[in-house]
Amino acid sequence: MSSRELCVLSLGLLLALLSSARTLPNIVLIFADDLGFGDLGCYGHPTSATPNLDKLAAGGLRFTDFYSSSPVCSPSRAALLTGRYQTRSGIYPGVFYPGSRGGLPLAEVTVAELLKGRGYATAMVGKWHLGLGPNGTFLPTRQGFDHYLGVPYSHDQGPCQNLTCFPPDTRCFGTCDQGVVPVPLFWNESIAEQPLSFPKLQPRYSALPGTSSLPRPNASSLSSCIMPPTLSWHRLLTQHTHYPQFGSQEYTGQSLRGPFGDALLEFDGSVGHLLQALHEAGVEENTLVFFTADNGPETMRMSRGGSSGLLKCGKGTTYEGGMREPAVAYWPGHITPGVTHELASTLDILPTLASLAGVPLPNVTLDGYDLSSVLFGSGKSPRQTMFYYPPAPSQLLGIFAVRYKQYKAHFFTQGAFHSGTTPDADCHGTALLTAHEPPLLFDLESDPAENYNLLQGGSVGPDLLAVFKEICLQKALFDHQMEFGESQMGRGIDATLEPCCAPRCQPKPLCCSCS
Ligand SMILES: *[C@@H]1O[C@H](CO)[C@@H](O)[C@H](O)[C@H]1NC(C)=O
Ligand SMILES: *[C@@H]1O[C@H](CO)[C@@H](O)[C@H](O)[C@H]1NC(C)=O
Ligand SMILES: *[C@@H]1O[C@H](CO)[C@@H](O)[C@H](O)[C@H]1NC(C)=O
Ligand SMILES: *[C@@H]1O[C@H](CO)[C@@H](O)[C@H](O)[C@H]1NC(C)=O
Ligand SMILES: *[C@@H]1O[C@H](CO)[C@@H](O)[C@H](O)[C@H]1NC(C)=O
Repeated sequence: MSSRELCVLSLGLLLALLSSARTLPNIVLIFADDLGFGDLGCYGHPTSATPNLDKLAAGGLRFTDFYSSSPVCSPSRAALLTGRYQTRSGIYPGVFYPGSRGGLPLAEVTVAELLKGRGYATAMVGKWHLGLGPNGTFLPTRQGFDHYLGVPYSHDQGPCQNLTCFPPDTRCFGTCDQGVVPVPLFWNESIAEQPLSFPKLQPRYSALPGTSSLPRPNASSLSSCIMPPTLSWHRLLTQHTHYPQFGSQEYTGQSLRGPFGDALLEFDGSVGHLLQALHEAGVEENTLVFFTADNGPETMRMSRGGSSGLLKCGKGTTYEGGMREPAVAYWPGHITPGVTHELASTLDILPTLASLAGVPLPNVTLDGYDLSSVLFGSGKSPRQTMFYYPPAPSQLLGIFAVRYKQYKAHFFTQGAFHSGTTPDADCHGTALLTAHEPPLLFDLESDPAENYNLLQGGSVGPDLLAVFKEICLQKALFDHQMEFGESQMGRGIDATLEPCCAPRCQPKPLCCSCS
């Protein structure tokens, strides 16, 4: 099993979508990794230092009821990019590995493809985790991104024991996955560096061949952002070296919250540099910045993992802590600062951006809604329900839980090893799959922690009975209409597909190392 300490907040998935037309907004999406509902200062964490994200929240619209579509990375990213549940695109069960044959099917329409068609320049920086495949078939450059810079899967999916901390070549915390190729850094479809040494990133960039004509991001931009060609890239270069969790000298030991807090502080710093760059370029009022995260915290890392705050459990589970995420929409002059309790999801991002850009929706079944009414304060969210799939969804069981308005019913519950170590045994990997009939029913407004089952003991009034019936109907309808795409994970793993900077070298995988 993969050790995920390096996955925590590793790299934000950053998508920059730049409009060529004056009237269309620039769009920057920031997608944090394994960040819990309770991790940010503006979401109540007592010792996290996140001044820039807090500023974003104070100047933007902060969501309290925002959901990712899955409690693990690859499916959650697939849904963000397509506006469709991961079951439709086949991104299940679990996540991709360096040698996975599958990937996000090319027939899926990504938000990048949609906006590229409208004249946007597109770039992506950071963790991809939607497959590489033979000859890079599934890389971001094949899915609508003009530019890509990043690691195509999680950082811990390769031997990383001396790559992530400072000074370089010292033994760092954690072991990561052994027996696979060293972690590569990709520029578009080529390996720029393998293994990726985070503390040494900056000199590597300067030495990169064939990029002299490009504005050159430096070490920090990996965790901050690749910017619009229309902006001057150098404005985005920041002082901080890079890599969350253990990384840079500058941030180590600077937060009250230990290694996780330091990583978060550094991530937050990169958001600050991004905002500063937008400000200096004078495009702040023409840029929508949307921030959220892929799934809940990995509490098995104990104090080195994130926090879901008052929500139950974390990564890998369909309790609130697994999928409810911090989220902020920031667009000065267009989005009124405030807090919203409206229901929303990563699934809604594609339809919302399509609406902003005036692009017709793709002719496929979408699971998202246009949130313009929420963003611009003209009305309520069109979303009334949220459906919760476990990391390994099946047609037989269907969804595990349904949220309808403020109510949530669990038809199945299951713990996850990612959600280990907290005192709540329901979260742990040892908590086996359990069917609930009748379901467990919670009122998330009065009981966000899912402590008090409304159907336990006592009699059920007519109002609650109506809610209960509606939820059962919603589950049945949803499961009935869901068409499972062919499982991409089911295509298996082929070690020869692992990215290697010296394809003919021996012995693999460790010879895949180029300085
Ligand atoms: C990758 O592309 C090369 C050159 O086009 C081709 O020879 C090779 O068979 C391809 N590999 C796979 C696994 O498709
Ligand atoms: C990546 O591809 C884009 C074209 O899609 C190109 O403009 C850019 O120069 C490439 N970047 C690198 C580092 O090769
Ligand atoms: C750590 O880095 C040193 C120097 O580059 C290298 O010789 C050593 O093999 C690395 N150790 C591990 C465990 O990868
Ligand atoms: C990286 O950023 C720093 C700080 O902004 C800057 O001084 C330096 O020149 C940059 N390095 C490269 C290679 O552009
Ligand atoms: C949308 O797709 C359906 C089924 O794939 C097809 O029958 C229909 O003609 C398409 N509509 C448009 C407008 O392309």
